[in-house]
Amino acid sequence: MAPAATAPGSGATWAGRPRGVPAAVPAPGVPLSFLGASALGLVATGVAWFVVAGQAARDVTADPVVAAVHFGVLATLAMGLLGALHQFVPVITGRPLRSTVAGYASCALWIAASWMLPLGIGLSTPVVTGLGGAAAGIAVLVVGWNLGPALLVRGKGPAVTAMRWSLAGALITTYLGVAFVGDRQASWFALSARADLAMGVLGLFAWLGTAYVGVASKLWPMFMLAHLEARARSVRISVWLVPVGAVVLAAGLISASPVLAGGGAAVLAAGAIAHVVALGAHVRRRRRARDLHLVFVLTSAASLVAGMVLALAAAIIIAAHPRAGRDLVAAALALSGGWLLVALVGHAHKVVPFIAWSVLRARGVVTGPNGQALGFADLYSARWALVSYGSTTGAVAALSLGLATAVAPLTGLAGILLALTGVVVGANLALGPWRVARRSRVAAAAPGSLDPAPTR
Ligand code: HEM
Repeated sequence: MAPAATAPGSGATWAGRPRGVPAAVPAPGVPLSFLGASALGLVATGVAWFVVAGQAARDVTADPVVAAVHFGVLATLAMGLLGALHQFVPVITGRPLRSTVAGYASCALWIAASWMLPLGIGLSTPVVTGLGGAAAGIAVLVVGWNLGPALLVRGKGPAVTAMRWSLAGALITTYLGVAFVGDRQASWFALSARADLAMGVLGLFAWLGTAYVGVASKLWPMFMLAHLEARARSVRISVWLVPVGAVVLAAGLISASPVLAGGGAAVLAAGAIAHVVALGAHVRRRRRARDLHLVFVLTSAASLVAGMVLALAAAIIIAAHPRAGRDLVAAALALSGGWLLVALVGHAHKVVPFIAWSVLRARGVVTGPNGQALGFADLYSARWALVSYGSTTGAVAALSLGLATAVAPLTGLAGILLALTGVVVGANLALGPWRVARRSRVAAAAPGSLDPAPTR
């Protein structure tokens, strides 16, 4: 990503960064800790879905199923997207994090929150659920404190607007969650299924989806070599309509107002369509040949569109067929989560090698295993990346189909594929740089002598 023009000012930057890396970039350990934890979270998500597959076929709202949902949305998706925000907010705004320690602290707190909350719900241990909720409540405040000054920057375009919205979405969703956790301890109110669904909409779209929409508007031009005006209309529309639609839809669900819910759903759908239109424009203008990243990104968008279609189908039939309608809602949420999961896995194969490459260059590693200048492609196996594509896509398809049709073996298969993806992606992206570091030639005075970014 091109360095932002703004001077970094005071804050937590990576002191040992090699030349050519943007000045505001954080210590690489911060985003890499989130992304590594996200791979572990995916393994836990897979195990959880495998274990609860039978219950999900009987009652998709049963507590163990809620636990599996939260391993997915909190320990995997939120963990990965929070890592992306810690990397890209400083780079895009040109303003650093306030504190590296706070970056690591929020990662540790989010690990605690995203594992304790589902474990507490799944194993019916309210104390653990309560501790998880408290950790989540503190973690989002730390994240807001750390990213806040960078997000106050002006004139950096729609990506920053998206990240502000995403942070607001994180706060709203998490504190709604804290209220839900409180309700579980002390029965504060009668929670309706609509309020539960409102949390899903806020979390998936106002928070995580909006973060992806913003980050993608910066990453697609770089990874596809596609020049699209950063303030293109489709991008500007998507960064507003996705979060605004999600908030209005959630308000409509909570207040049981069909007009508000319908209006919010229409706005959200328009935002999602604008996001897909922006993707189409990037794909048409790309100068890079078709590659696995493109296939990941297109598959992710297809999952979003399929999710919208299923959500519409659910809204049409739910009054007449409550059970089938509820299962379709669950499948639509799974496809929406699939939109983000496929995108996260696909972008991880670009972003992690990019960060690892900077780390290796900062340590003076100049060549890859074949003796040529170190490239991104030296830092992971393309064959295993293809396996990850197959397993992620298969998992999303099996989970949505398993939930929609209440067929337990399909949901169980999705669990196996999700866990497999977590293992393969984590190992592929961690072992590649480790192997290169062991074998490659180290230059005598490499820091400050960075070549242009590699093309492979
Ligand atoms: C991306 C963020 C999130 C998403 C997408 C999400 C999604 C959902 C969904 C779909 C349900 C309903 C599940 C069902 O009934 O089958 C739910 C319930 C619940 N969520 Fe979340 N959630 C998120 C974040 C959180 C957070 C951060 C917390 C806690 C701080 C939390 C706590 C809860 C609790 C306690 C319930 C159960 C409520 C009840 O007793 O019915 N969630 N969530």
